[in-house]
Amino acid sequence: MQPEVAARLGENVPRYTSYPTAPHFHPRVDAAVCRTWLEALESDDEISLYLHIPYCDKLCWFCACHTKQTRHYQPVATFLHSLHREIETVGRLVRGKGRVRAIHFGGGSPTMLNPEDILSLGKALRDRFDVLDDASLSVEIDPSDMDEARLDALSAIGMTRASLGVQDFDPKVQKAINREQTFLLTKSVVDAVRARGVNSVNLDLLYGLPHQTLESVARTVAQALTLQPDRLALFGYAHVPWFKKHQTMIDEAWLPDSAGRLAQSQLAARLIVDAGYEALGLDHFAKPDDTLAISARTGKIRRNFQGYTEDNCETLIGLGPSAISRYRQGYAQNIVATGAYEKAVDSGQLAVARGIELSVDDLARGWIIERLMCHFAFSAIELVERFGDVGQSLLAMASRLAISGGGLLLRLDGENFVVPKDSRPLVRTVAAKFDKYLEAGTARHSVAV
Ligand SMILES: C[S@@+](CC[C@H](N)C(=O)[O-])C[C@H]1O[C@@H](n2cnc3c(N)ncnc32)[C@H](O)[C@@H]1O
Ligand code: SF4
Repeated sequence: MQPEVAARLGENVPRYTSYPTAPHFHPRVDAAVCRTWLEALESDDEISLYLHIPYCDKLCWFCACHTKQTRHYQPVATFLHSLHREIETVGRLVRGKGRVRAIHFGGGSPTMLNPEDILSLGKALRDRFDVLDDASLSVEIDPSDMDEARLDALSAIGMTRASLGVQDFDPKVQKAINREQTFLLTKSVVDAVRARGVNSVNLDLLYGLPHQTLESVARTVAQALTLQPDRLALFGYAHVPWFKKHQTMIDEAWLPDSAGRLAQSQLAARLIVDAGYEALGLDHFAKPDDTLAISARTGKIRRNFQGYTEDNCETLIGLGPSAISRYRQGYAQNIVATGAYEKAVDSGQLAVARGIELSVDDLARGWIIERLMCHFAFSAIELVERFGDVGQSLLAMASRLAISGGGLLLRLDGENFVVPKDSRPLVRTVAAKFDKYLEAGTARHSVAV
């Protein structure tokens, strides 16, 4: 790796699961604005639903998700009552318009729900929305939560994809992150979901965790590969203790430095690719016949709040506290605090706290950033065809970046601007060059690699 690239690995940049990114959302996009966006849906629009379950029965010290630990089920039951109200309210505004192509249960831990609550959520969604017969239904699974009854309930509501949190199999690493989960437990859940007909299983792995070494990462990857996952996500641990206080439980002296993180991610990626997987975007891998790998090859892979996806729906409706929706007109985020969210939806309102309307400039920059994050390249011709004058001025900007950086971050190759292979770990830094809001903002982000 060139020293100029290595020197930038520690830069703090957004993860670009949206553009503009969430720190730039503002309260002028409120429930009233979002209502008009929902009502503007067309009857043949395909939509996706994301349900955020903001609870876990145990907190992992590394976690940066919007979640809260609860030892009792009552707060979950209270929240679920509100989630049903929100499903009713949104369903009424959509009024049968929009056909649901994909449903995603995330969190937090959707698997901490009681089996009967899983069943009633599945029923509510199908009662209130027009869910297509071949819609996908994916669930983020914490293997420690799982039992036969929950697996049966998830299967009964039509789970087609399962994503299991693994992170690392090394006991010393697991102890340091407060997440003890044996390989055998993970294997038993993988086997159990497959036995119920789920033929898309993803495992989440992390690098950059406390006590991880090249050897321990290689061992974890090798163990994960024995489970033959259809997909693997390999995330860099985002250490953001100013945002997530419980991460202060992780001693920073135990964390690898930027060069160590890069070496771990490259080793893990090489082992996964050598095992026959295709690398997709920044941090995903899939078997070549997996639908995500196929969408990447055909240029259709997308990036949204759940990471890389083949879900092409323009509209994603987020339900639950902190959930972010994307409409044709802009982004809208629900109230983050669960109590305030419950109060809003229990009074029959939408729980929108903030968001942003998308200008043509936002759409054009967002398109470039998404292409870079998914394909490490974008077509100069397509940029101008799609966005006209705005595309022209961004094209000039891309050319300046390519020239001034000596082709280090971006290079013109035929009609495409391309991130050179050596600089791919820095793709978030390249994307940030097209982020108009970044300089003005005060938000702090995790390191690039
Ligand atoms: C909602 S959790 C997955 C479902 C379930 N709660 C579990 O942990 O198994 C989503 C994923 O986000 C990733 N994640 C959480 N905190 C992270 C952090 N600080 N940095 C990078 N990835 C993180 C983990 O890989 C985790 O599996
Ligand atoms: S990683 Fe998953 S189980 Fe752990 S605290 Fe975060 S959301 Fe909960």
